[in-house]
Order: sequence, then C-alpha cells, then structure tokens
Amino acid sequence: DDTLPLAGKRILVTSGATREPLDPVRYLTNASSGKQGTAIAAALRAAGADVEFITGVAEVPPPNGVNVTNITTAQDMYDAVHEALPCDVAIFCAAVSDWRPRQAGTEKIKKKGDGEAPSLEMVLNPDILKSVAALDPSERPELVIGFAAETENVIEHAKAKRERKGCDWLLANDVSAGTGTFGGDSNSIIFFDDQGHEVWPRMSKQEVGMALTDRIASALNSQK
Ligand code: PMT
Repeated sequence: DDTLPLAGKRILVTSGATREPLDPVRYLTNASSGKQGTAIAAALRAAGADVEFITGVAEVPPPNGVNVTNITTAQDMYDAVHEALPCDVAIFCAAVSDWRPRQAGTEKIKKKGDGEAPSLEMVLNPDILKSVAALDPSERPELVIGFAAETENVIEHAKAKRERKGCDWLLANDVSAGTGTFGGDSNSIIFFDDQGHEVWPRMSKQEVGMALTDRIASALNSQK
C-alpha cells in the first residue's frame, strides 16, 4: 500500500538476547524477552515499511510480514546486520552481550578437584550499533537509533552513550530491579536526539513501537 507513511522504506530492527557459549551445553545470556523489538517491528510493518528483523533468543514470536534472521551470538548478529545493509533506518533494540568467553570449549568443561571452580576469561564483542553509526555517509542509514539499558543516573549515562555510540536517536530505559522493563509488557522511555531529551510516560511496548514509528515517519517525510 503506497499510501502508508513508511511505504518503500527499508528498516532494520535488532531484538532479543544474544547467547555466548562457554562450552557445548552452557552459555551466558540476559533477560531480554524480545517484546520491545517485536512491538517496534510490528508497528513499522503496519506503517508499510519493509522490515529486516534480526533476532537473538526471544520469548515471543516475530511479527507477521517481516523478514526474519535468527542469530545466536553477538558476532552472528554483527555479521547479519552488516549483510542486511543498506537500509533507510536501523534500530538496535537487542540486548547484546558486551563480552564473550575467550574460548568456547568444544568439550564440556570438567569439574576440577574438590572445591575448585574454573575462572572465566572474557574478550570484548564488536559493538554493532557503533559500527553502523560510523559507516561512510554513502552506506550509513539515514537514521541510526540505539537503546540504552541503564540502572542508575539514566539521563547522564544515556546522553553520554548517545555521543559515544554516534547514533542519531537513543531511547533510554530504566532496567533496575523492580521496573519490569526486561521481560515485561510496558516501558518508560527517555528519548534523546541532538536537541536534548524528553521523558515519555510509561506505556505499553506496543505504544512505544507506535510512537517511535510516528517519529520516524515524520523525520523521513520532512526531508523530502
Ligand atoms: O526484550 P525486552 O524484554 O522487551 O526488553 C527490552 C530491552 C530492555 C532489552 C530494550 O528496550 C533495550 O534496552 N535494549 C538494549 C539493551 C542493551 O544492550 O543496552 P546497552 O545499553 O547495553 O547497549 C546500548 C546499545 O548498543 C543498544 O542499542 C544495543 O543494542 C547496542 N549494542 C550493545 C552492545 C553491542 N556489542 N552491540 C550493540 O549494538
């Protein structure tokens, strides 16, 4: 439908949790359910966008009508995102593991002697959002949108994160214990752009998806 506000726009969304293997049967992950990323992808699709949905592990199924790529690790997600470019807008809602165990053993880690636990050596994962924000203008999406999961000094940390990551917009959410932001059905967002920030009231993750979609449509259509 050509009359929809995002018709003809190609939009990439990352969602869900990455999983970093320790050995063939153990892994490190986080509590992302994929609900927020899925709600955003559904709202974009309803507004007519062609959605590339790149998802880690999630508790909810992907929305209908989007192109789904399933990944496991942060490195897999990095590769899938760069393969899916170019796009008009990229939104990074996935909870990506910042580190991974240096070696994911091919054999199950054995118990050592009595009372001795193995120690874990970690290495950094690539920063997917930062790598896309830093692309040449010829390859960079027109809008690069990040999330920030914070537990304290949300405004200060998120503002610094937007600058460090080089994204255009950043949606900060408080993920402290008791907020239910990870895994729950609602979210409270503080939205940052180059003008400053605004506090959105707590709303359902679907409503966050619709509010973000409206804002993207206005931004893209005002540039025409
Ligand atoms: O899935 P739900 O249960 O619905 O929960 C939603 C959510 C809380 C997971 C989501 O709203 C959210 O905040 N996602 C981002 C989580 C996160 O990893 O935040 P961060 O502050 O650690 O990372 C900042 C940004 O960099 C994020 O856009 C993240 O996707 C991106 N990133 C981080 C690390 C990395 N190696 N590559 C990245 O692209």
